[in-house]
Amino acid sequence: DKGNHRHFMEKEIYEQPEVISHALSHYINFIDHRALTVSDGIDFAKVPSLAISACGTAYLAGLIGKYWFERYARLPVEIDVASEFRYREIPLSPQSAALFISQSGETADTLASLRYCKDHGLKIGAVVNTRESTIARESDAVFPILAGPEIGVASTKAFTCQLAVLAALAVSAGRARGTVSEQEEAALVKSLAEMPRLMGQVLNSIQPKIEFLSRELSKCRDVLYLGRGTSFPLAMEGALKLKEISYIHAEGYAAGELKHGPIALIDENMPVIVIAPHDRFFDKTVSNMQEVAARGGRIILITDERGAAASKLDTMHTIVLPNVDEIIAPMIFALPVQLLAYHTAVFMGTDVDQPRNLAKSVTVE
Ligand code: F6R
Repeated sequence: DKGNHRHFMEKEIYEQPEVISHALSHYINFIDHRALTVSDGIDFAKVPSLAISACGTAYLAGLIGKYWFERYARLPVEIDVASEFRYREIPLSPQSAALFISQSGETADTLASLRYCKDHGLKIGAVVNTRESTIARESDAVFPILAGPEIGVASTKAFTCQLAVLAALAVSAGRARGTVSEQEEAALVKSLAEMPRLMGQVLNSIQPKIEFLSRELSKCRDVLYLGRGTSFPLAMEGALKLKEISYIHAEGYAAGELKHGPIALIDENMPVIVIAPHDRFFDKTVSNMQEVAARGGRIILITDERGAAASKLDTMHTIVLPNVDEIIAPMIFALPVQLLAYHTAVFMGTDVDQPRNLAKSVTVE
């Protein structure tokens, strides 16, 4: 049932505050601001490193997870798309743990990567939506994302719930490893707890701006997304979502890679969507943006209130989000990214919930 929504995808985008809140309640204690230790299958205090593998959007969630596990838990992370991971003959230590992220829990390449790690003696964790799935069954520890059924082929709420779970796990691992202090834990958990309310606030306010910009995007042939830090995987997710449902060609790049190639493509016909919360990378991203502007590129900047005040270029549109703590920025900034893809596809009249050539669950390699 789509409720008041035109598509399941739209319904699932708007469901995010609710499902994230539900997912978080499984991983954090909202009252004393602690990250719960949810697994006895994997001892995050002891593992020397973590391997992560997944496909598509779940892989991009894993890439953001890598930033968190490395930063908060000082845990080195090896990550690759499952179709490469399974065949790379990666040397893996049996003392390590591996995480596999999958909405369906049935993706063939992800399952094969899991079995590869199992054969090498690693402890296996599954970040899944479908608890009765093969990937969940074959794992030592299951971390459910509790997003509820996702019907739209393009993943939205599963992505942000995967992120919420990975963020909570990284904080919990940081506590276990002594790399996150009790005060830091409390601050990070408070930020996570604020997320559902902030998501609701964003969803209630950005629609008119998104519709205006989506009408423009629907006329384009190519779109470039840029970001740094955790906004880099999010840039790739934005490009993936746009490709999948609007069939517009899009690429996501690390903003610092712009001058190593993609800058050659910049002209007035290719909008550049810059994802830039006012974080420690902001000034660097703004200087990349100026390089785009200087070459006649049209910019859509997705930033927060502080970022909007700090950057004034007249060649651009700005989507302004509330100021949020760094750990929740990827989930909050995912919302305009998802909505831009959704409304662009609606303007183009594509089959949003069942885009051509795609399947919700990919059980062949
Ligand atoms: C993108 C999308 C796909 C899936 C990928 C993995 O919107 O839905 O890229 O993320 O096929 O699927 P799961 O998570 O079921 O393993």
